[in-house]
Amino acid sequence: DAGFFTYDPGFMATASCHSAITFIDGEKGVLLYRGYPIEQLATKASFLEVAYLLFYGNLPSEQELDDFEGVIMQHTMLNENLKSFLDGFRYDAHPMAVLCGVVGSLSAFYHDSIDVHDPRYREVSAHRLIAKIPTIAAATYKHNVGEPIMYPRNDLRYCANFLYMMFATPCADYEPRLIAEKALNLLFILHADHEQNASTSTVRLAGSSGANPFACIAAGVASLWGPAHGGANEAVLDMLAEIGSVENVAKFIEKAKDKDDPFRLMGFGHRVYKNYDPRAKIIREVCHQVLEELADAKNPLFDLALELERIALEDEYFVERKLYPNVDFYSGIIYQALGIPRNMFTVMFALARTVGWVSHWAEMMSEPSMRIGRPRQIYHGPQVRDYVPISKR
Ligand code: SDX
Repeated sequence: DAGFFTYDPGFMATASCHSAITFIDGEKGVLLYRGYPIEQLATKASFLEVAYLLFYGNLPSEQELDDFEGVIMQHTMLNENLKSFLDGFRYDAHPMAVLCGVVGSLSAFYHDSIDVHDPRYREVSAHRLIAKIPTIAAATYKHNVGEPIMYPRNDLRYCANFLYMMFATPCADYEPRLIAEKALNLLFILHADHEQNASTSTVRLAGSSGANPFACIAAGVASLWGPAHGGANEAVLDMLAEIGSVENVAKFIEKAKDKDDPFRLMGFGHRVYKNYDPRAKIIREVCHQVLEELADAKNPLFDLALELERIALEDEYFVERKLYPNVDFYSGIIYQALGIPRNMFTVMFALARTVGWVSHWAEMMSEPSMRIGRPRQIYHGPQVRDYVPISKR
């Protein structure tokens, strides 16, 4: 059933639920959103067009997209009282900590649409989340840099509006460059959904208890933060900075192979893909274009990433284990070229993935047979035994 988990003896947690949203073939490196290949959507669609596709199941007509964009733009502002909530965080709080807290708090402000059994309220909550997540994401950045929060502008498209809220200030306007808007549009599409990954399964499990959608998405944000999941894009840049130069690559490849060393090659490997992550292929190509157009000099981190990838893909350990670059390997380099700081990379991932999370949540909640998820376990603790008074222990 939706959200039902089964554990096999190998302790491999496999979330078995029914969904019609995203299909992945890990061996062939295939990713489809509602049947459409990611390669086509990434280069031909807008992010809100893909959001519509994931949530409603089909690509919108021109009128449907126009109406959808209109509804989303109407919800981009935050309740003014949320600003004082934001002000309560330490000035140097990690943006993901702020995002997690603020998204969870939305149920305190928008409780008029949390009747999860009413499809209309489910739609309104989804619209509110898709619309407000860029405003909240930009606000976590502004809080972190000590600048005033910028209000959204309804005359800008979704990605341009986000860039505006990130980089404009009351003293200086900011006109997003088209290359930056296009790069974000592509990155958000590539990160929008990915079947039953850890954070999406978290959202489903939380939602299966009937929890309100804002609390469920906050649970997804929390799960995504881990360095083995969405936190990897930030960890890749930290790793590249630690490697420092091409001369050190071999040493770090050996570290990644050493079972006694916790170091992992961040941005490499995947639970499902045992082939090149199709999203990584697309991002790698865009990296070249963005760096050419945006970054002044050739970005040494990109050259280092290319060399690290080349060496790793020739190394027996990685080849044997079918470890290829994943979506996180190159995305951070583009975000950095757009002027987005490392501690915001996972926030960017969460911004895009909110569309997938709300789509899965709504799909599950609309199923009449939906029951609470209740994972079982393989118990290997002590057999039954009697209590021993403390005087005898
Ligand atoms: C995302 O699920 C999703 O769809 C997630 C995601 C999404 O869109 O939602 O795609 C986004 O989370 C991408 C993954 C980002 N994380 C990283 O880049 C962190 C680095 N990667 C690893 O931590 C790891 O590859 C995982 C967590 C992604 C997967 O871990 P698994 O399932 O343990 O990997 P595996 O079973 O395929 O490992 C097989 C072998 C193991 O060694 P052996 O026990 O066989 O000797 O490969 C080793 C692993 O130790 N291995 C690595 C490695 N990844 C796996 N060794 C060195 N470096 C790595 N990165």
